[in-house]
Amino acid sequence: MPHSRHEPQATRTHRSEHPPVSTAQPIARTSPPPLIAKTPGAPVGAHIASFAYYLPEQVITNAELARLVDTSDEWILARTGIRSRRRAADTEATSDLAIAAARRALADARTDAAELDTILVATATPDSPVPAVACIVQAGLGAVNAAAMDIGAGCSGFLFALHTAACFTRAGAAQRILVLGAETLTRVTDYSDRRSCILFGDGAGAAIVTAHPEQRADNLGLELLYSQLGTDGEMADLIEIPAGGSRIPASEASIRDHGHFIRLDGQRVFKQAVRRMAEAAVDAMNALNLKPADIDWLLPHQANARIVVSVAEQTGIAPARAMLDMAETGNTSAASIPITLGRARDSGQLQPGQVVMMLAFGAGLTWACQVWRVCAPAN
Ligand code: UT7
Repeated sequence: MPHSRHEPQATRTHRSEHPPVSTAQPIARTSPPPLIAKTPGAPVGAHIASFAYYLPEQVITNAELARLVDTSDEWILARTGIRSRRRAADTEATSDLAIAAARRALADARTDAAELDTILVATATPDSPVPAVACIVQAGLGAVNAAAMDIGAGCSGFLFALHTAACFTRAGAAQRILVLGAETLTRVTDYSDRRSCILFGDGAGAAIVTAHPEQRADNLGLELLYSQLGTDGEMADLIEIPAGGSRIPASEASIRDHGHFIRLDGQRVFKQAVRRMAEAAVDAMNALNLKPADIDWLLPHQANARIVVSVAEQTGIAPARAMLDMAETGNTSAASIPITLGRARDSGQLQPGQVVMMLAFGAGLTWACQVWRVCAPAN
């Protein structure tokens, strides 16, 4: 980790010169964004047969960060709920974390990699710009029959990938899909910026999505009841890695300006995260005719404990039903929901019949809500 206390210089993002579309009236939304919802007698046709996660061994404590920037364990814990986060070893890239999580999910599902027909990897931190991480995972697993691609939707990526997988299984276009959220955020974290470096950690989570219920042995499964996605690209600059793409290619200047690191406007992101996830949760409950008390577990993206509690309060869901799992893992972006899901199963929180609402929010801006029912182990 760099040991600089240097604050990053302002780098202009140089967005497109195209003026924004001008309209006399604000554009009214005429139809909701992509939606999958269960109606009586119409199965959604998407199940999770197994799920797993992988966390690298190295730990970054708040105390270590306090040696790099002007912060403290007390401030970080009180403002975020995070005590420590994981860091991938120098030899580990995003695909290595993804493959480790995928192997566990495949083993739990008693599925051979060759049985997969599709691999989707949600990530904002690929091994390199080209090829997609999913292709490296395909080779690493020996998933010779799978087509593979990445999905970029920031911290919402895992739910965007699950939604895509559900569309594939519903359409009959795929039968057995490996969905991964995998990140090495510590590689793009600016350890001279105290406003952001306290948040991020590395990890990966995996789910095997099938058209029909397939969970085996003692696996808990999940059945999709509802999925909706949302995006507001007008706020794209609230979370960004400005350099390293076609707008600002890598250069000595981009490195000097810390342009290859994540920047976020923390307060505005915080407000948007609460608003968008709370709205999405209420939309889902209305669509499924559920009351807050019908939600057994709220499983939100683990960005900040205060965001999670605020979302619960705004939706009427008891804060005690909201999963808080960032203390030892930090914000792992697209990996945070599957890691939290796996850890909830391991700790015995998940029980057959429970209704789990997953909520995501991240760069884009993007957000998503999914409602799943936990299914009993198949015999
Ligand atoms: O995963 C994608 C979505 N990401 C998120 O959802 C992140 C959302 N944002 C957040 O989680 C929070 O905004 C942060 C944790 C990033 C920041 O917390 P905050 O409560 O919003 O702090 P702030 O930016 O409003 O700053 C409050 C004060 C400021 O001092 P002054 O100006 O009031 O004197 C900051 O300079 O806290 C100061 N501060 C810090 N102090 C100690 C900011 N960062 C730190 C720090 N240690 N690490």
